[in-house]
Amino acid sequence: MQKELKKINENFVVKIGEVRSLSDLKNLERDFLGKEGALKKILDLLKTLDEKERSVIGKLANELRTDFKEKIRKKEEELLENADDEGEQVDVSLPGKKISQGHIHPLTQTLESIKRVFESMGFSVFLASEIETEFYNFDALNVPEYHPARDLWDTFWLEEGLRVAGRACLPVGTESRVEDGKSERSFDKTQDKSFDRAQDKLLLRTHTTAMQHHYMKDHNPPFRIITPGKCFRYEASDSSHDIQFFQVDGLVVDKDVSIANFKAIIEELFKRIFSNKVKVRMRPGYFPFVEPGFEIDIACYNCQGKDCPVCKGTGWLEVMGAGMVHPEVFKKAGYNPAHWQGFAFGMGVERIAMIKYGISDIRMFYQNDSRFLRQF
Ligand code: PHE
Repeated sequence: MQKELKKINENFVVKIGEVRSLSDLKNLERDFLGKEGALKKILDLLKTLDEKERSVIGKLANELRTDFKEKIRKKEEELLENADDEGEQVDVSLPGKKISQGHIHPLTQTLESIKRVFESMGFSVFLASEIETEFYNFDALNVPEYHPARDLWDTFWLEEGLRVAGRACLPVGTESRVEDGKSERSFDKTQDKSFDRAQDKLLLRTHTTAMQHHYMKDHNPPFRIITPGKCFRYEASDSSHDIQFFQVDGLVVDKDVSIANFKAIIEELFKRIFSNKVKVRMRPGYFPFVEPGFEIDIACYNCQGKDCPVCKGTGWLEVMGAGMVHPEVFKKAGYNPAHWQGFAFGMGVERIAMIKYGISDIRMFYQNDSRFLRQF
């Protein structure tokens, strides 16, 4: 019997060496340790042996069983570690696991389509910082400290301690101005508060209009630019307001530009964004950095200008502010307002996306709910 055990052991060593997969291993386990396995047969015979022999063979058989179990466990680990060994187990006829793929966020899609339209009309894209100084966000735009218009933009001010860190985030190169001897611009540096930025308070820009002075002090007209980007306002959020949102601001400066040019441009923009003709309305609006100023509305997508809850019964949706650049803004940038004219505008990107896709709550853009995002 001892010989038989030895044979079983030798056989086991050969067989385990041939195992290539988990299913081979299962078969091996069954053949040697199973109910009808080789060892079980020996153990069944124990009762026919005398006591002395029984205890010797029984001990040997049990040792062998423990040894087989351990070797099988090790082999299993080895197979699991080495995926290649499992290759033959892959059932190629099974459907593959679906890898879910993301796609461009509806807001980015809207932003890109706005940018494309403007680029096709000769506008350049100018990017500015989300952290701004009080000067660029307000003073340079004709909104002095005492001016009640500052109440229009409830602001996130950055703590004093953040001032230095915040300065590092300001756009590179904004300190350098174009010193062009031939230009008609004359700067009085002592009057230009942008040189005192270290003294200036930092904030999260409340509108992308804050880019205007950055661009104008470094470039000579004529030009046409847009600035897309995120803005922040410290206000309660509801279905149409959030503390952060995107705007696209535009600025066109030339010798002879008018509101008629502006109107043509935005009509073209809306026609292309909404893929059909939409009714556009301009009405007087107040912004300290333009004169005259306008609010631009488009006919409500839901009721086509009649009356519904989306437009709160007015039939119109407000999408942008605009106007002719205020002479004070030109003067601050060193442009002679008698020589240059320009128009500026700023639109809310979420608003446009909400109208385009019929979305009723602005907060959905930022909730990262894939059930919502998948629809676009
Ligand atoms: N900055 C204004 C706002 O945030 C929009 C605007 C931009 C108005 C440019 C006029 C000119 O509401």
